[in-house]
Amino acid sequence: MTEEPGRITRQFLTAPMHEVHARLRSRMEAMGMVVSLDAAGNLRGLWRPEDAGSTRMLIGSHIDTVPDAGAFDGVLGVTLALEWVGIAQELGLRLPIEVIAFSEEEGVRYGLPYLGSRAVAGSFDASLLALTDAGGVTVDTALREFGLDPERIGEAAADEDALCFIEVHIEQGPLLEAEDLSVAAVTAIVGQTRLTLTFTGHANHAGTAPMHLRRDALAAAAEWITAVETEGRSTQGLAATVGRISIEPNVGNVVPGLARVSLDVRHARDAVRIEAVQHLIDAARAIAAARGLELAVAGQLDQPAVPMDERLTAMMSAAIETAGYPVKTMPSGAGHDAIVMAARLATAMLFVRSPGGVSHHPAEDVREEDVEASLHVARAFLVQLGGEVG
Ligand code: HGY
Ligand code: MN
Ligand code: MN
Repeated sequence: MTEEPGRITRQFLTAPMHEVHARLRSRMEAMGMVVSLDAAGNLRGLWRPEDAGSTRMLIGSHIDTVPDAGAFDGVLGVTLALEWVGIAQELGLRLPIEVIAFSEEEGVRYGLPYLGSRAVAGSFDASLLALTDAGGVTVDTALREFGLDPERIGEAAADEDALCFIEVHIEQGPLLEAEDLSVAAVTAIVGQTRLTLTFTGHANHAGTAPMHLRRDALAAAAEWITAVETEGRSTQGLAATVGRISIEPNVGNVVPGLARVSLDVRHARDAVRIEAVQHLIDAARAIAAARGLELAVAGQLDQPAVPMDERLTAMMSAAIETAGYPVKTMPSGAGHDAIVMAARLATAMLFVRSPGGVSHHPAEDVREEDVEASLHVARAFLVQLGGEVG
């Protein structure tokens, strides 16, 4: 289910999302769940046992992807959430469970992540409806074209008395494989800054413009991109990435007059991330000044690091132990919907090993025995949580 035959690309509210919803809806309804699509495009399936109370556990992940994605980032957490419901049904738990397939986590289409989970967390600001994609389509229009009513986004917010939010996700890094572990409990999600820097110089003829008189925006960006890598390599625990660049006029015989560059900086400690971002902005300003260029800096995201709920994470570690696996806890270098949900509900995450440590790539994979391990942990966790609700 993809926008692009031959590779997996599934952006917010695109056509393949209807197929994913139809596939999940039929599985959820076959399990006796009541299914709804909220105004932000999140598909939600509620399992409520006969004699259960109203407070529910929420569990889920995202079904949108980056371009040319792997098959597991996000969607594994949704399919495993259905297995959690199946286990709760087998155990006869009086625990309502709501499974959520979030509509947008990656931030690919609109440059801003977590549009789906912001609505469920009650933090979707109406100004986001005016964001436009590369084709000039606003979020508001995209929602209406998908058959949704943006005016009702407020109704998507989860009850604040919900028990918790749980997200199961591939690690997307090499640590579990390096330690030969199947699963880990996540302690925190690192903070993340996303910026766009625009170097503006002067386009000119590639043959006649003397080298010492040029105001080459791409050469300036290239000098700065190596500074980004140097900052990342020289700061313990820092991830600093330039993942996207666009230049104008982008033809071989014209000196580039404009370079628009992305910046993604992450660290477990906000002070370190903020200082690194400032260093890199200062470096960009110095490079632009030395070359007679203009520099503009636009912010897309300034997401503080978020700790997971201690009590739930201890329960997740206990469940790992009960299930017979070595207990491992670790921070997440990747962002997740859990970072947004944690502002509204007690939140915990369970990681599953990423073979090769690869993600955001078609080679992304999981091992069946690790998925099975995660379900043994699920059972042990649900027994603990089910015991709390009686
Ligand atoms: O970029 C991330 O950290 C996540 O995959 N959205
Ligand atoms: Mn991702
Ligand atoms: Mn993800």
